[in-house]
Amino acid sequence: MRVTFNANGRPVEADDVWEGESLLFMLRERLGLPGSKNACEQGECGSCTVYLDGSPVCSCLVAAGQVQDREVRTVEGLADDENGLDPVQQAFIDAGAVQCGFCTPGLLVQTHDLLEREPQPSDSDIREALSGNLCRCTGYEKIMDAVRLASARKCSSNSSEVSQ
Ligand code: FES
Ligand code: FES
Repeated sequence: MRVTFNANGRPVEADDVWEGESLLFMLRERLGLPGSKNACEQGECGSCTVYLDGSPVCSCLVAAGQVQDREVRTVEGLADDENGLDPVQQAFIDAGAVQCGFCTPGLLVQTHDLLEREPQPSDSDIREALSGNLCRCTGYEKIMDAVRLASARKCSSNSSEVSQ
């Protein structure tokens, strides 16, 4: 079957999608968007997290056919051509929160969503929001640092915009 939808703000279509194929497979193997990672394919690790109509989902658990006429935003879509990396992406780099990087795309999408909903999350808010994202490398402390850093930077850039 053919699936037509919006990926990162652009209309895309994938042909020969088989019944039961996952959104994750379609993004990575058919549409040249390999940012979302396949670490478990069972909804357990969060490394495949993308936005679907504005809400984070595990793309390994979503059938490709379910996204017909919908909006998907992947980790590639967090950066923008004009401004470069999203502040969340930059904070993960600056805080040293990326080691092998397999968990990183999902953490970035989930953190981006958290800070949209709650710009100044407490540590327990962060832990809860990221509880479905597993990392085997960092021990999570650098990830916590990265989320705090992204939050602080976003808040200070918002307040300087307001005062201008
Ligand atoms: S690959 Fe989808 S949750 Fe692990
Ligand atoms: S950086 Fe390797 S799994 Fe998180």
